[in-house]
Amino acid sequence: MRQTLSYTVLPAEICIQSDTENYTIQFFSATTMRICRTADKNHVSFAIENLPPFHTDFCVNPSEDSGLQITTSYLDVRISPDLKIDIYDNRGTLLLADYRGDRVTTQTLSEEQMALVAMEGHQTEDTTAPATTTILKKLEPSTYFYGLGDKTGYLNKRGYEYMMWNTDNPEPQLEIPTFKAMYKSVPFFIAHSASGNYGIFFDNQNRTYFDMGYESNEYYCIRAEQGAYDYYFFGGDTMADILKEYTRLTGRAPLPQMWTLGYHQSRWSYSSAKEILSLADTFRREQIPCDCIHMDIDYMDAFKVFTWNETLYGEGNSLAGQMSKNGFKLVSIIDPGVKVEPGYDVYDTGVRNRYFATDAQGEIYKNVVWPGDSVFPAFTDDTVRIWWGGLQKHLLERGIRGIWNDMNEPASFRGPLPDDICFSDGNTTWKHSEIHNVYGHLMSKATYEGLKQYDKKRPFVITRACYSGSQKYACVWSGDNHSIWAHLQMAIPQLCNLGMSGICFAGTDIGGFGSHTTKELLCRWVEVGCFSPLFRNHSAKLTRRQEPFAFDTETINIYRKYVNLRYKLLPYYYDLFWEHTKNGLPIMRPLALHYEQDKNTLECNDMFLIGEQLLAAPVVNQGQEYRLVYLPEGTWIDYWNHREYAGNAHYIYHAPLDTCPLFVKAGAILPTYPAQQYVGEKAIDSIHFEIYISSNDTVTGHYTHYLDNGTDFAYEQGRYTQYEISLQKNRQVDIQIVHDGYENAYTSMTYDIIEPSGSAVSLKG
Ligand code: GLC
Repeated sequence: MRQTLSYTVLPAEICIQSDTENYTIQFFSATTMRICRTADKNHVSFAIENLPPFHTDFCVNPSEDSGLQITTSYLDVRISPDLKIDIYDNRGTLLLADYRGDRVTTQTLSEEQMALVAMEGHQTEDTTAPATTTILKKLEPSTYFYGLGDKTGYLNKRGYEYMMWNTDNPEPQLEIPTFKAMYKSVPFFIAHSASGNYGIFFDNQNRTYFDMGYESNEYYCIRAEQGAYDYYFFGGDTMADILKEYTRLTGRAPLPQMWTLGYHQSRWSYSSAKEILSLADTFRREQIPCDCIHMDIDYMDAFKVFTWNETLYGEGNSLAGQMSKNGFKLVSIIDPGVKVEPGYDVYDTGVRNRYFATDAQGEIYKNVVWPGDSVFPAFTDDTVRIWWGGLQKHLLERGIRGIWNDMNEPASFRGPLPDDICFSDGNTTWKHSEIHNVYGHLMSKATYEGLKQYDKKRPFVITRACYSGSQKYACVWSGDNHSIWAHLQMAIPQLCNLGMSGICFAGTDIGGFGSHTTKELLCRWVEVGCFSPLFRNHSAKLTRRQEPFAFDTETINIYRKYVNLRYKLLPYYYDLFWEHTKNGLPIMRPLALHYEQDKNTLECNDMFLIGEQLLAAPVVNQGQEYRLVYLPEGTWIDYWNHREYAGNAHYIYHAPLDTCPLFVKAGAILPTYPAQQYVGEKAIDSIHFEIYISSNDTVTGHYTHYLDNGTDFAYEQGRYTQYEISLQKNRQVDIQIVHDGYENAYTSMTYDIIEPSGSAVSLKG
């Protein structure tokens, strides 16, 4: 059917009217564009809280085919009369085209046939379910997809279908199709192909589906059951440019406290103050650095949130006080479910003020979680979030230094919360189906804001469930993994994709949470975990103990080696976090992020970069001692023996149990700290840089180092010091202070030039 397009240009947007639909297009920069149904323009976005000013120069002109052409200095957007949108870059390269055909849904069977297929346990999900939004985009043969949060499987998401519906399923989450949904919903991805890059953020927090070429090779499909038709398109010369723009919109992780980058030990649950103190002693005796012990649900009185079992965990802040003498901090878990118990003040206050979710009849809704019958705070409401934020004071008074938000999908033991459970925000009543995916996000926000207000330090919040933008409030862990090799393998793409989704502060339960770990698995896991931004070992009740000393001396030695390495590299990690606040880049990065022109990196599932300077190639298979390593362009130096490796080549690397292959890029300038048992053990008044050069002595390098007090918000007032270090060709090293605001800046700085000690032979060689 022939349509006529008319349009109105407002100062910062274009409204397009056709016979069937009205769309609004806004530009946030020359590369970032929002496309939404005009009727949805003002829908609530949970991800984007403070929309940046959106004006950029653009031109709108009618096109020859009676459509429209809108150009910025980077994008050339062509809208045909039937409202199909094709996006080119300013060089005329087609980046993304709307798909012109119809969806080819999977075959439908008769009810009888379906039942038969289901009987043996096969999947019979109906993917044709009605959707309010279906976006079909043309799929180019060479497109790779990254991001989409914590989904199972491999780095490249092409060819699979995922669901955004925060899900607590502690069964071993293996590949899709069984596990289409995980704990987190981040409806954002980056597409990379030979013709260029782009990103899409579908700002719809409802249950949504991302079919990335699962049902067809011709298109990919984004569907929503309800909610807004509203997506953002990000163009960019590199994937890094796209991430920068996406995080400019949805926010970046704020600088963490330095100690949170140290090692964390956890288990469900350390059963008493005595056990926690003795654990802390063992860490110090074995000289394995550790900053923090996590307290799982048993520290509470009958699992009632914001209570404390004084019989087992001591009165007042006595436990935290004793722990702090040895440099340990405590983090405690808080779930959203509030026990139904008249006389329990959290419950009573919530009931009195109507803070809890209700059923369609207005009765407070109950389900079952750890404390038994429980009710669920309506975190959608500002007042409820402020109340919840204030409750954190109970834990701060006990000396708790960080809050671990769990079960906030929300998880429930008596069946899922019905779709129509109501969460009010004072004005609007949201149905559970509409806010399920942001429940954990809003809980983290409440926790973050409460801690910030009452603690005055940079809040340390960990969350299991989250949505796009949660990186502003919390770090994440990947939930209930298992002590299986498949989960160690998956940790790498999972953490890399979280990073490619704007969530840079993330980790997995080292050693695996469910099932029994083995010595070998634990050793190999710490060799990955020591590089992940959140560095925590955690395990479930009834599983084999997996603290570093649970096995033998060899395990202790290996564990200590990697925890020490992490503490040595703490200033590097801290710099990467600071860098993230400026450009949204993750800490742990897929090789593809920096070497996207190199095909060998695009599907690299078992290696990763830490910043730009380090490349880790851990062993993630049982019994393996030799592995294939691919090094992208440039010259690389083996961290352990300083051998030189030419890039663009494959190598076979011998990696016995105590070795995680680790390479430093020639030209790298690595900041290091002396060995410490915890952050703050030593007053650091000096920094040491390791500067890696190549044998032909031609590389140059540059590095920015950032320093502040690592604790509070004084840096926002300029109380930080920034150093620029550069390596010239003739081994000349210059250090300049470009911002001098931190009162305790270093009194001295040293460096070593690390020269290669011979070169390695590549597979071709
Ligand atoms: C959930 C969490 C896990 C925690 C347990 C008990 O399974 O994912 O980390 O230990 O609950 O609180």
